[in-house]
Amino acid sequence: MSKLAVLGGKPITRSLVGDARLPKRGDLERKYLLKAYDTGCWDDRVLGATQGAGSMGEKFEHQWARFCSSKYCLPVTNGTHALQMSLEVLEIGAGDEVIVPGLTWQATASAVCDVNAVPILVDVDPQTMCIDPEAVKRHITSRTRAIIPVHLYHRLAEMDQIMRIARKHKLWVIEDCAHTHGSRWGKKGAGSIGHLGTYSFQMSKLMTAGEGGAVMTQKASLYWKLRSLRTCGRAVKGTARIHSGNFRVTSFQAGVLLGQLAAMRKNASVMDRNGRALDRAVAAAPGVAPPRRSKRITRQCSYAYAFLYDKDAFDGLPALKFRKALSAELGVKFGSVYEPLNRSSLYRPHTKKRHQLSKSYLKAINPARWKLPVCQALFGGRAVTSDWAILACPPSRARYLTDAITKIHEHRKELLPASRR
Ligand SMILES: Cc1ncc(COP(=O)(O)O)c(C=O)c1O
Repeated sequence: MSKLAVLGGKPITRSLVGDARLPKRGDLERKYLLKAYDTGCWDDRVLGATQGAGSMGEKFEHQWARFCSSKYCLPVTNGTHALQMSLEVLEIGAGDEVIVPGLTWQATASAVCDVNAVPILVDVDPQTMCIDPEAVKRHITSRTRAIIPVHLYHRLAEMDQIMRIARKHKLWVIEDCAHTHGSRWGKKGAGSIGHLGTYSFQMSKLMTAGEGGAVMTQKASLYWKLRSLRTCGRAVKGTARIHSGNFRVTSFQAGVLLGQLAAMRKNASVMDRNGRALDRAVAAAPGVAPPRRSKRITRQCSYAYAFLYDKDAFDGLPALKFRKALSAELGVKFGSVYEPLNRSSLYRPHTKKRHQLSKSYLKAINPARWKLPVCQALFGGRAVTSDWAILACPPSRARYLTDAITKIHEHRKELLPASRR
């Protein structure tokens, strides 16, 4: 094979995805956005004591719930608030512990601090990058109230095992689905397996309205209470007035999301098909492996495509150099995963004045107290990720991924320092 592209050679392809793009429905986004404007009803504050009163927000709420096979869905301000509201609706707060994976966006854990509970950071499964059910079991105490599995990057967490653990220990399960719009576990959509599920519609996500979020639940009582929590605690359909804040979304966001959902209806199965083809391409290459895919995953849509890199199989070639070389061969950017939360420069709740409630609380929320070797190994070089745009790559082009990895493997010595060749 010719010289590596990163060293000035000819790349395997100028672009792995070629001309392929996941289709959008900008026409519908615009149509619903204008429709929301024209109705003059721009928020969902007090609309309807019954579900389905017909606002744009409620239209999206119904359609998104149905698409995710959830009984109820409540659009809210963002994914962080969706997590916070889920904890609040379950009356989780001071004195409680919530088990969270150490590899996730900081919001999963910071939402727990936002209700004055303690996030218990546990390690992830090295094969899926999602929360390790065995680690969950080891961290359950008499104070544990909930588990928040995050369906991270390119896999859903092992939900059957997590639900079994939750049943045994009488814990709540809140699925963080910010990475996994459109994914399915058996006959259920992500977010409808646990007691609650949360989504983010922030700009980088598979579905977006610029900002936004949603909470899914299967229980009517939780739904109505959530609905009250969303609107400053006002009484909604017989719920008692409660103390809360403003977590409402605008009808404009809901309109855009309706258009995004129309695209997702088509794209979800395409993403799954293309993702599987990329997995096969990775499996056919030396020194790398796709993350383990549970047989229970019937559709995987991913915020980021991810696979596992074995540095030893490349004679110690650092992941950083491997990713750079791969990016150059395929015209697609490859990167790493989130910083593990115990070493994160963003997740530092113990430095925030509002959390200085007591010495013991500050100690409990200090993330440095946790050891997360698997998260660290993934961050340190075991994981390779690429933006979800790569899922537009049709199966006919996936072989370029095999070719590029094989080429780097064959030329690996050229990327090593002279002393190690
Ligand atoms: C896994 C995960 N959970 C929660 C969130 C929070 O969502 P938002 O940014 O909408 O608040 C994000 C956003 O990046 C996320 O990636």
